[in-house]
Amino acid sequence: MSPELAAVAVLAPLALGETVLALPAAAAAVVRGRRARARLAALSRPTPPASEPEHPADAPRRGRLVLHDVTAGWGPAPALRHLDLDLPAGHRLGITGASGSGKSTLAAVLTRLLDPAAGSITLGGVDAAAVSGDGWRRAVALVGEHDHVFATTLRENLRFADPTATDADLVAVLHRVRLGDWFAGLPDGLDTWLDGGRISGGERRRLAAARALLVDPAVLVLDEPTEGLDPATARALVADLVDGAAGRTVVLLAHRGEGLDLVDEVARLEDGVLRARVQAKSPAA
Ligand SMILES: Nc1ncnc2c1ncn2[C@@H]1O[C@H](COP(=O)(O)OP(=O)(O)OP(=O)(O)O)[C@@H](O)[C@H]1O
Ligand SMILES: [Mg+2]
Repeated sequence: MSPELAAVAVLAPLALGETVLALPAAAAAVVRGRRARARLAALSRPTPPASEPEHPADAPRRGRLVLHDVTAGWGPAPALRHLDLDLPAGHRLGITGASGSGKSTLAAVLTRLLDPAAGSITLGGVDAAAVSGDGWRRAVALVGEHDHVFATTLRENLRFADPTATDADLVAVLHRVRLGDWFAGLPDGLDTWLDGGRISGGERRRLAAARALLVDPAVLVLDEPTEGLDPATARALVADLVDGAAGRTVVLLAHRGEGLDLVDEVARLEDGVLRARVQAKSPAA
């Protein structure tokens, strides 16, 4: 071998080495990049929490509400696990549970704002997934923590729930949620402009319940209706709402205990699992 060739033979692998040594790092970067792209793609097309059926069935007007082996959540970890419920029409169930135990998630599942990851929900034998979200919520109505009072008249605040309601319907429903006295004191009746100053926290919840009842739902879901109220007002409110629900199925979700003595039975949610009923009112009560 000539001296020149010998030098090439020694130096060539060294020169190549620089190129080759970078390859494992490049391969790792490609893998990391692919994973990152998949994560970004997942974020850019989020799955909606609730889907709409292509050919929606009619919402049932009344009937037994049955949840069978329902698991649901907002991310990979379920917030509700293997939940079973069977509520005959008109039954009133209270559910307690610490903050984060899954009460509002259950409210979202019941009102079809969140599809369960597994299991089924039926009302009168009709599967929730077969009914449109809006249709279902006319059958299973929610009174929630964040019910809004719009800066418009009392009439419009109620009528957006049911544009066909007459003034007489509106006044009747206000009486049903015990807002009769409040209504009588308003300067312009149904034309009274509602703003923050005209309505207290308890009245706001009653107004939300009035709105929910206007659509004549089969089931009324009350999610923390007493949040922010003093204990006496809270109990009176639950009593009036349970009363106003008149024969409808009621699911009362409350992390404090107010009003839980007014329902037929009480269950407890612990970390997404529904525990045995802790109280059942005697038939005489
Ligand atoms: N809209 C949402 N998006 C994402 N995660 C949510 C949503 N709502 C609830 N979660 C999560 O689901 C789990 C259960 O929360 P949930 O709100 O159902 O509990 P809760 O019993 O209603 O609590 P609280 O008494 O504070 O109202 C929690 O981990 C919470 O962070
Ligand atoms: Mg909640």
